[in-house]
Amino acid sequence: MRTAICPGSFDPVTLGHLNIITRAAQIFDRVVVCVAANANKPTPMFTVEEKIDMLRTVVAPYPNVSVEVNTGLLAEFARRYEGAVLVKGMRAASDFDYEFQMDLINKRINPALETMFLTADQRYTFLSSSIVREMAHYGAELSGLVPEEIIAFIEAKAKSGRG
Ligand code: PNS
Repeated sequence: MRTAICPGSFDPVTLGHLNIITRAAQIFDRVVVCVAANANKPTPMFTVEEKIDMLRTVVAPYPNVSVEVNTGLLAEFARRYEGAVLVKGMRAASDFDYEFQMDLINKRINPALETMFLTADQRYTFLSSSIVREMAHYGAELSGLVPEEIIAFIEAKAKSGRG
């Protein structure tokens, strides 16, 4: 069984993430969405539990997709799944340097681990979780940026953050 691991901070999951996850689910036997619990990001908007709940809601229609949490190195997490491949989205040239560095460091830790990139759908090349957080902060329309099922939750969280 070939497994794709789609890693990320998912703060929150966007339609761009979901596009990559569902395309990977058509190519691989199984997709494990891996939520980094200790991602090197200063102030996450959502708790790990909230990220997992949102992800599980939006991947529910896809029987070969599951959601896991990882508290350690991604390259070590990948060892749990024999022959697993990391699958990530590539939005623009600006993603390349970071992703190239991540692949090299992951291979230092786990030399057998390969990373494959799916080019972002043109509808989502501008999209990132940070854009969604900022839009939510200002009470802007989130439709078309994140899955419909989680919009109300994101709006409520942003509203509580605004006090
Ligand atoms: O959505 P992001 O923030 O681009 O995802 C980055 C992520 C979470 C995939 C990456 O930071 C990660 O894998 N973190 C886990 C720790 C790790 O393995 N770091 C690489 C070696 S320093």
